[in-house]
Amino acid sequence: MKGVILHGGAGTRLRPLTFSGPKQLIPVANKPVSQYVLEDLISSGIKDIAIILGETFPDLVREYYGDGSRFKCKITYIYQGKPLGIAHAVGLTKEFVGDDKFVVYLGDNLLQYGIKDYVKYFDENDLDAMILLKEVDDPRMFGVAEFDEEGNLIRLVEKPQEPPSKYAVIGVYFFKPIVFEVIKDLKPSWRGEYEITDTIQLLLDRGYKVEYKIIKGWWLDTGKASDILYANSLILDERIKRVIKGRVENSKIIGRVFIDEGSEVINSTILGPSIIGKNAKIINSYIGAYASIGDHSVIKNSVLEYTIVLDHAIIDSVDRLEESLIGRYAKIYRGESNRKVIRMRIGDYSEIEI
Ligand code: TTP
Repeated sequence: MKGVILHGGAGTRLRPLTFSGPKQLIPVANKPVSQYVLEDLISSGIKDIAIILGETFPDLVREYYGDGSRFKCKITYIYQGKPLGIAHAVGLTKEFVGDDKFVVYLGDNLLQYGIKDYVKYFDENDLDAMILLKEVDDPRMFGVAEFDEEGNLIRLVEKPQEPPSKYAVIGVYFFKPIVFEVIKDLKPSWRGEYEITDTIQLLLDRGYKVEYKIIKGWWLDTGKASDILYANSLILDERIKRVIKGRVENSKIIGRVFIDEGSEVINSTILGPSIIGKNAKIINSYIGAYASIGDHSVIKNSVLEYTIVLDHAIIDSVDRLEESLIGRYAKIYRGESNRKVIRMRIGDYSEIEI
């Protein structure tokens, strides 16, 4: 089987971070979201993988993943450009896919237990397509599955006012190459996109064999800042081990904290689960729980919790920072003035809550 990772899209909901890179490269526990996707494909036995690139800094994606050899897989890049829809992106992979079965994985989706079991099932059974569903509290924001009395999938409805079930379609889709025949007959939806739900609906309407699996464990679509922060907390909770490679002086490191090479922690407390990247400096500060601090960042005289700080940021004398996502090279510091003033030089679409 082959794999396709969708790395395009506009990422408007994640501005301003998507002014300097695609949303799928935003790190969660100091690793890009799409790297979790790539690693899930690889550990499911898929080594031949295409990455679909959009208009948002596609060169950064090529630079990060290269030819795949660093990850022990082979990567082919396919340029989509404008986000004309998930089905449009899938349609571009016809040549790459050839006669193989394949799985399409949205580059901003995270699944607690990964897709290995579903890859095996699809590989071993003669299906034309398979989708994954997750029970959600409020299905109205999702593509929702409708079943007949025997539990067969009969219809998908996009963002229904009255959902026919509680099962949302998540961002992992399995296909045989027959799907390309259907994609070429699609019409753009009201929002001008070639929709994946329409593709699956057309497969159902034409009598193709489409099955579904209901996933266990959590599933996250990291489309907004609050989703990224939540994903960060879940990944830190489940995957971080206590490893201290950096230098710790006169400090308390409590619980599962990963401190990478070249970092210094001085007169500080770090509460796990948290991660500190390479060559960072933490001085006179209280960090965590649920903090991810990027490489080369400096945190001084500050308190922060449930926060992601990307590489090369500086946070000085800030008490306290919570539920925050701080971009690369950002600086937050207390000024000299005694007056209660706030001075800002912030980029377009930034958000500050005080
Ligand atoms: P979305 O999150 O629906 O789209 P977006 O990235 O444009 O986000 P926003 O609404 O904030 O502007 O896309 C889901 C995933 O599919 C995401 O990983 C981006 C990817 N994608 C493509 O690669 N090509 C496309 O044409 C579209 C629509 C999405």
